[in-house]
Amino acid sequence: MNANNDKNIPAAGDPPRAPQGQPRETPTPKQVLEHSHSRFRKRKKEGINPGIVIFALVIIAVIGVSVFVLVTGRGKKNYTELPENHVPVETGEVPQETCDYVEVDASAVHGGQLILVNFRYPYEFPEDGEGPETANVYDNCRGMLKVASMADSLDPVTLSRLVSFASDFEERTGDRCFMVNSAHRTYGDQVSIYRSYSETLGEEYARSYVANPGYSEHHTGMAADLAVVFDDGSSVPIDQYQNYSIMREMIPSYGFILRYPEEKVAVTKIGNEPWHFRYVGAPHASVIEKTGLCFEEYIEFLKNYTADGSALYLASDGILRSLPFVDCALVHDSALIYYVPLSEGATVSVPVPKNAAEYQISGNNVDGFIVTVTVGSAPDTVSSVDGSVAETAQASVLTGEE
Ligand code: DAL
Ligand code: ZN
Repeated sequence: MNANNDKNIPAAGDPPRAPQGQPRETPTPKQVLEHSHSRFRKRKKEGINPGIVIFALVIIAVIGVSVFVLVTGRGKKNYTELPENHVPVETGEVPQETCDYVEVDASAVHGGQLILVNFRYPYEFPEDGEGPETANVYDNCRGMLKVASMADSLDPVTLSRLVSFASDFEERTGDRCFMVNSAHRTYGDQVSIYRSYSETLGEEYARSYVANPGYSEHHTGMAADLAVVFDDGSSVPIDQYQNYSIMREMIPSYGFILRYPEEKVAVTKIGNEPWHFRYVGAPHASVIEKTGLCFEEYIEFLKNYTADGSALYLASDGILRSLPFVDCALVHDSALIYYVPLSEGATVSVPVPKNAAEYQISGNNVDGFIVTVTVGSAPDTVSSVDGSVAETAQASVLTGEE
C-alpha cells in the first residue's frame, strides 16, 4: 500500500422470406417416391429426364439425413434458448431431483469475490490478523504493470486478471501504461491514509475519498487504484487518458468494475473515483456494467434471483435473462447466478444444479451467498439485458436499502 492516491485525485476531483400465398408442404419420402415413379412411368414413352431423377434423389437424401439427425441427435447445437415446446414453471421450491447440496459454513458469508465492503459493512479481518493472502504486484506482473511501491500486493486472482487485462490492452492500443498506485491495505495503512488526507486536504475531503479504517475495499486485496504513467515518466489523470474509454469497455470482461462512479455517489457515499477498480469476477462485472447498477445495488438486485424462484441466466448469445431455477438443468451453455440467504444454524445448504461444470459460492458480506454456476462454455460478457431483467434491476434501485 502507499498513500500516493494524491496523484490520482481529480482537480476538484434476420433468412429470405417464402413466397406469399399457399404454404408449401414438405413431401413425405413416400410421396416423393410415388411422385417420381408416376413421372417416371409417364415419361418412359418420352425418355427419362435425368434432371427429375437427380432432383428426386436429392430430396430423398435431404429427408433421410434430416430424419437421421432427429433420431440420433447428431448435429444438435448447443442451444442458447430452451426447447421450443418448453413451458416455464416456477415451483416455489428448490427442485430436489436436479440439485446437489453443498454445506457452507455460515461465517463464510464474509469471504469471497463478491463481498460488499462499504460504509455499512466492514471487512471481516481473518482471525489471525494477517489479512487475506496476497501476491506481490511487482514480482508477479510480468512487467505489464508499474508499481508505486515495491511492497504493493493484491489478491492473487485479482492480480492475475489485472495482468491479463494490461497485456491485452497493450496489444489493442500499443500502450503499456498502468501503474498500481494503491493496492492491499492493512487496517493501519488505512488509518495513516485517512489521517494524512484529513491533515492535508481537510476532513470533508478525507471523508469523501477515504473509507474509514476497517471499511475499505482495499483491505480485501481485490481493489486497485490505477494511474496512467508512461515509460518516459509523464503521466495523465486516468479519466483524461485518451484510451480510458477503451479501458472501461475492456475491463469488465476481466472481472473488474469501476467501483465509485460519479452518478452513484449518493449510494456508495464515496466521491467519484475514476481510478478505483474492484475485482468481482466475470460475469458479474459485465452484468453490473450492462445493468448500470453499482455494487451496492447489484447485491440488492441479486436477491430477486433464488433457487426457489428464478436464476439470472446468461446464455452463450450474451443476453442476460431470468430462468426458472427448476429449468436450469435444461441449459447447456450458460452462466447462472442466484442468491442463497443465510439460514439459522452454523451451516447453510447451498443448492447447485447437477449439470454444473463449475460453480463458485461467495459470501456477500451482508446476509447470504451468491452462487455462480457455469454450464458448458458460458460467456463472460453480457451483450444486452432482457427487458424483464432490466425492469427488475430498475425496481431494485428504487427499493434498495442503500
Ligand atoms: N478510496 C476508497 C474509498 C478507500 O479508501 O477504500
Ligand atoms: Zn482505492
